[in-house]
Formats: sequence, C-alpha cells, structure tokens
Amino acid sequence: MVEVSNTIRFLLNGEEVALTDVAPDLTLLDWLRLERRLRGSKEGCAEGDCGACTVLVGRVAGDEIIYDSVTACIRFVASLHGTHVVTVEHLRGENGALHPVQQAMVDYHGSQCGFCTPGFVMSLYGLWMRDPHPSRPAIEKALQGNLCRCTGYAPIIRAAEAMSQYGAPQGDVLWAERIAVKDKVRAIFDGRRVEIGEGANKIFIPANLDDFAEIYAAHPEARIVAGSTDVGLWVTKFMRAIGPVIFTGHLQELKRIAENNSEVRLYAGVTYSEALPVIEAGFPQLKELWNRFAGEQVRNMGTIGGNIANGSPIGDTPPPFIALGAKLHLRQGSHRREIKLEDFFIDYGKQDRRPGEFVESVTLPLLPAGEKFATYKISKRREEDISALCGAFRVFVNDVGRVGMVRIAFGGMAATPKRAKAVEAALDGKRWTMDTIEAALPAFAEDFQPITDMRASKEYRLLAAQNLLKRFFLETQGQGERLKREVA
Ligand SMILES: Cc1cc2nc3c(=O)[nH]c(=O)nc-3n(C[C@H](O)[C@H](O)[C@H](O)COP(=O)(O)OP(=O)(O)OC[C@H]3O[C@@H](n4cnc5c(N)ncnc54)[C@H](O)[C@@H]3O)c2cc1C
Ligand code: FES
Ligand code: FES
Repeated sequence: MVEVSNTIRFLLNGEEVALTDVAPDLTLLDWLRLERRLRGSKEGCAEGDCGACTVLVGRVAGDEIIYDSVTACIRFVASLHGTHVVTVEHLRGENGALHPVQQAMVDYHGSQCGFCTPGFVMSLYGLWMRDPHPSRPAIEKALQGNLCRCTGYAPIIRAAEAMSQYGAPQGDVLWAERIAVKDKVRAIFDGRRVEIGEGANKIFIPANLDDFAEIYAAHPEARIVAGSTDVGLWVTKFMRAIGPVIFTGHLQELKRIAENNSEVRLYAGVTYSEALPVIEAGFPQLKELWNRFAGEQVRNMGTIGGNIANGSPIGDTPPPFIALGAKLHLRQGSHRREIKLEDFFIDYGKQDRRPGEFVESVTLPLLPAGEKFATYKISKRREEDISALCGAFRVFVNDVGRVGMVRIAFGGMAATPKRAKAVEAALDGKRWTMDTIEAALPAFAEDFQPITDMRASKEYRLLAAQNLLKRFFLETQGQGERLKREVA
C-alpha cells in the first residue's frame, strides 16, 4: 500500500507551486490567465489547433530535463505534478533586454496584431534550446502547430533562421537553472500517490504503474487522462464533466519502448514525439504519417495508448498498426491479456475493454524482408488536420508474381478502424498486376459503406480508397517518384 499525499506540486517559471484544491478539468491556460494573471499565453481556439497558448513543460527523463512545447488550453493543471512550466513571461535577455528569440521576431517583422506571437515565440524558444541553428524543415516542423492569420509565415521563418545570431542557449535563464530545476522536479516524485477532492472532483495521480492498475481496478468509473489531447476537447468544446480522473502522463513505466529483432513494443504512455525515432528506424514507411499527426505541441502530449483506447474511427495509428498485425496488451489489476488490435474495435464508441482494464502496450511486428508496406493519410489540410480517411496497405508478392499475403486496413471508412477483407480476398493468390487491382476495386463497396460528413462525402471516400490501392500498386512497381512529380 503506497502512502498518499494531498498536494499537486510543480514549478511555474521561478516559483514553486503547491495546490491542494484543484478541479480535474481546470486547464493550464485558464489557471495561468485567470488565477495567476499571466496573460502572455493567449486563447485562440481552445482546442489545441492554433498554438497561441503554447508554453514549455519540462520533465525529467533519465538524467536530463526535457522541455516540450505544449498547448496550455487542453492541458490540465493536475497533469503538471512533477514538471516545470515555462511561460512567455519567463523569457528575458541580458540587462532587461528582450530575449534573443523575441528580438529576432521584432527585427524580422514576425508580428503584426501580435495575438499569435507569444505562442510562436515559445515554440521557437523550445526549438532554439535544443537546436540553435535549425534547418528550414526543422523550423517548419516546430511551427506546424502555430497559426498566424495576419503576418504570414515567411517573416517568422526568417526570424527563426536568424535567432541564433542574437544569443546562444548557454546564456539563457533555463540553461543556468537547469540542474537546480531538475533536482527540484525529481524530488517531487517521492514515491507517494496524490489524491485530491471527492466524488466527481476526485483526482488520482498514481505513484507508479502498479498503483495505477490498483486504483483503476478499484475505481473503474474513473476517466484515464494521458496526454489529454482528446479529453481536453471534451471539456473545452463539449463542456463535459470528466471526473473522477486518473492522470497517467507522468508514469515512466508507461513510456517504455522495447525492441528486439522481430518486434517493437510501445507502452501506452509513449507520445508521438517519443516514438518518432523508433518509428523512423523500424517503420520508415510511417515517417510521413507521423509528421502529419497534429502539430508539434500535440505530438509532444498525445500518446499511442490514448489514440488506440479512444477508439475513434479516424485515429491514425490503428490502420497501419492493424495492417502490421499489431497485438494489444490489456491489464486489469494484476491480470493481463493479449488480443489482436483489430479485434479491439467492436463498434462506434465500443471497444473490447472490461471495467477497470486499461491499455498497457502495443506490439508491432517488424516487416519480414520482401514485404511492401505503405500508409496514406487524406486530409483537407496537409498538416495539423484529422484524416478524412487513412489507408494502410501491406503485400508480399512471391517469386512467381502472385500475392502471397495481403493486409489492408482503413480509418474513416466505417464506424471503427477496419480491415478490407473483401478487397484482400479479391487480391489474395492473384497476379500482382493492374488488371488484378482493377478487378478488386468493386470489393471496396462490400467492405465499406462510408458516411458523408464535414471531412468528405461518402462517394469521395470510396473513390479515394480505391485510388489509394492503385497508388500503392504503382509505388510497388517503382513509380512512386513519377506519381509525386505529377501531383506536385
Ligand atoms: C489539434 C489536434 C490535432 C490532432 N490530430 C490528430 C491526428 O492527426 N491524428 C490522430 O489520430 N489524432 C489526432 N488528434 C487526436 C489525439 O491527439 C490523439 O487521439 C491522441 O493520440 C490521444 O492521446 P492522449 O494521450 O492525448 O489521450 P487522452 O486525451 O488523454 O485520452 C483519450 C482517451 O483514451 C483513454 N486512455 C488514455 N490512455 C489510456 C490507456 N492507457 N488505457 C485505456 N484508456 C486510455 C482516455 O480515458 C480517453 O478516453 C489530434 C488532437 C488535437 C487536439
Ligand atoms: S488556444 Fe489554440 S491551441 Fe490553445
Ligand atoms: S500576428 Fe496577427 S495572428 Fe499572427
């Protein structure tokens, strides 16, 4: 039985914060602006899209303190236990001057109305600290989650390219504070669970993974909150009550990544940013998809486990993971079970999860030699947008040119992420030719009866899915570069 504390503790800029009375749905942005009167961080969209509320959150990982850009509008205060929150008010240059990043924005005319500017400054500040001389792609990636409606992006990018001329991170306040901050933040995790509030206002911050399993088994009515990039919007957009809540984003055991020569196992709390290196190495075909998940801030918060557990028909990890033959590991108290990921999704909003059971990890088999694999995301906007549909294709063509194995899975085409079994059957054992592909296209209508919504019409979805199969075929024939040139 672990000991229990009743205080959420973290650092805010240079100050230590201790809170004993917090609502589970209090967002960091509201707390900063309304309670702490720190109004540099702005509210543009309140749904993680525009980046006007960007702050940095420092967390201890191994021997380091790592600062991630996050959107304060959908991050809950209670999830900050054991972190260092850095807002735009903390930035300063020498002798009262502007910070180098701010000065570069001024000199390169990176701001007009100024509403988005604190958010851009914080994203650039995070980039400058880890990569003082960023390349153009690195700048664009860091700014994917920041929108500006009046300046345009060219001056902001020029400011980003110039910021290192104004100063080096070694002279920055966070550099100087780093060791002291790390020790203070680490000391907050003293082996105790945090419990605050009662009934629907109850907050649990488990001491460790076993403690989480125990709490959830005893309180299956509680809501798990990992990165809050889905749950945050239930609060800010749908005004839903979410308590009681178990916060899990701090659990190091849920951030493990285990690899061997046949599979990669991602624990549920691994964020998109944390998974990127292993995805690039083990599944390079998913690199583009990964960089099109949301923007940088949401990738720093959102977890693999949250994407799967949420069960959304347009979540982007299930289609490729199902095509890869992923296994899902579920845990309830000390009892564990393993299922195929595709069997987890039963119906819209219904997953194969028992009361008090949570997603502990997902295992992705590495691709055997000779197999072809690709995933395509179709969305209205290239970046920072949810899929209208997402299709994953995997095929093995044998020595005699016939399909020896095929797996196809789609999101956005049905009430759940789903395999295209009729299409697979139409391809299996056939010659891998365009004639076979054309003959298999009608089978899409057997597998899927998509809906029309704001993202796409049902006709568009069906046609796009068929065309993605053709594209996949052409790419397996070495015509990928030609297709890219023609689209460009
Ligand atoms: C601006 C923006 C852009 C986005 N873009 C994309 C995108 O491009 N593609 C995409 O797929 N998604 C996108 N999302 C959605 C979201 O980021 C992902 O679904 C994310 O992976 C959710 O993870 P999370 O940790 O934030 O989940 P949370 O919001 O914390 O939780 C989501 C759900 O999962 C449950 N849950 C969390 N962890 C577990 C667990 N271990 N076991 C059981 N249940 C659990 C929670 O109780 C909740 O029901 C976007 C969101 C935003 C705000
Ligand atoms: S206010 Fe738009 S991302 Fe937070
Ligand atoms: S400067 Fe006005 S929105 Fe960016």
